[in-house]
Amino acid sequence: MWRDIKMMAERARGRGIRQLFGDGRAKAFSAHFDGMLFDYSKTSMDEEARAALLALAEARGLPERREAMFTGAPINETEGRAVLHTALRNLSGAPIMVDGADVMPGVRDTLTRMKSFAGAVRSGVFKGAGGAITDVVNIGIGGSHLGPEMAVRALAPYHDGPRCHFVSNVDGADIMDVLAGLDPATTLVLVASKTFTTTETMTNASTARRWMAERVTDPGAQFAALSSAEDKAAAWGIPQSRVFGFEDWVGGRYSIWGPIGLSLMIAIGADDFTAFLRGAEAMDDHFRSAPPEGNMPLMLALTGLWHHQACGYPTRAVLPYDQRLGRLPAYLQQLEMESNGKGVAIDGRLLVHGGGPIVWGEPGTNGQHAFYQLIHQGTQTVPCEFLLAAEGHEPELAHQHRLLVANCLAQSEALMLGRSLDAARAQMKARGFTGAELDRQARHRVFTGDRPSTTLLYDRLSPRRLGQIIALYEHRVFAEGVILGLNSFDQWGVELGKELASALAQVLEGPEGGEDEFGVGKDGSTRQLIKYIHSKKG
Ligand code: F6P
Repeated sequence: MWRDIKMMAERARGRGIRQLFGDGRAKAFSAHFDGMLFDYSKTSMDEEARAALLALAEARGLPERREAMFTGAPINETEGRAVLHTALRNLSGAPIMVDGADVMPGVRDTLTRMKSFAGAVRSGVFKGAGGAITDVVNIGIGGSHLGPEMAVRALAPYHDGPRCHFVSNVDGADIMDVLAGLDPATTLVLVASKTFTTTETMTNASTARRWMAERVTDPGAQFAALSSAEDKAAAWGIPQSRVFGFEDWVGGRYSIWGPIGLSLMIAIGADDFTAFLRGAEAMDDHFRSAPPEGNMPLMLALTGLWHHQACGYPTRAVLPYDQRLGRLPAYLQQLEMESNGKGVAIDGRLLVHGGGPIVWGEPGTNGQHAFYQLIHQGTQTVPCEFLLAAEGHEPELAHQHRLLVANCLAQSEALMLGRSLDAARAQMKARGFTGAELDRQARHRVFTGDRPSTTLLYDRLSPRRLGQIIALYEHRVFAEGVILGLNSFDQWGVELGKELASALAQVLEGPEGGEDEFGVGKDGSTRQLIKYIHSKKG
């Protein structure tokens, strides 16, 4: 099947995208869900390719695997766990069984505790030493940081709670810059770590506790923990009443829907947080039950496979024309690359068709003035995934929003249509160029066109929409992973660097012997780097 699909991609290369547009292509190559539109018509996928990709999804067992995920089967096989972030947004009341027990009472109980705590913080009932909480600092990294940071920023118009700040990097500059403007007596610190062992987070949490202890007699009273390791959080000194736990079947990069989302709930309130969950839940139902051709996550996944596996494009750009989604590319980098950046299939063999692509991006229009040059005229094709809100949250600046929308639409149009040499020559001629110089100047102004893009269009970025968008991408990653035959829910690739870093941290403390002992046992390059760092100390 893959061979046929790759041949179709080869044929499509010679044919281009513009030529595909005839009667009804835009409509036929779009998926709709709850007022959201995913238009993938500006790609080289035709009817035949789509049918083959849909058949591939079926043949790779996507429907069965999807059902296995939603019903709590241990599909994270390398870790022997279920994958149930969807349970955190299951507001339907339906049970979900793991190992014969319904997990939903526990999920509901935690959600109720989160709502009560967030409500107390927001209303001022929960106080710091200096009175009502004015600032919340979420300390976490990876999935315990990117999700809440991205979502809090995305939903800024809905904020009516304390200010939220985020610290993730072990680089002390991060925490110093965040704490610099805060009053410890009115700050709440959320230590967000699924494992409660991550070096960066635990180091920053200790720094925050010392900072608070300078002004507050009982600093522990202004800390809460968001973690699966409730015992470790308690041992660190955070009482059970302020530990919000979740099970190991929620992967770090899929954890925004539960306790890791507490900063978001404190910022926007429980009602809007529930709307966010409801949006995701609606997307879950759609993914589970919509017919394949109209199934938005599936079509997003098939477009991704078409571009990366079939056409061979190595990266994809995520380009939100929505400034508040400024952290979405970073969030998706973890979601997609930690999930599908793999080389080994579930059965332990090498992946025949590779893993997922490199994902990168920036909000528009900023990116236009930075890297779009390469997107339009570079020698590599970069499939672009545009996201666009039809309406902004600033009615008084409607004219600016019109400009934003116009720019987004113009980019996908330009990528597809390009500009021919003849058109470029005519333009240069009109500017007075002649002869060889006319030719030379014109060549620099040619756009090959036929560069693929998709557009996800929605009304405005509300909590419900954001929930839908994140769940859409989660399911896209899952569907791509299943079709490629890999496990999207482990991340063994991050382990080696962590192990070596903890050994190196000790080496950096200083060698036992003389200069020759720097980094003994390490390769020449690493020893040289260590020696340099030692020479600059103090
Ligand atoms: O190192 C990768 C990772 O394990 C991610 O998968 C995870 O989101 C992040 O670290 C943080 O882990 P934790 O929430 O356990 O601190």
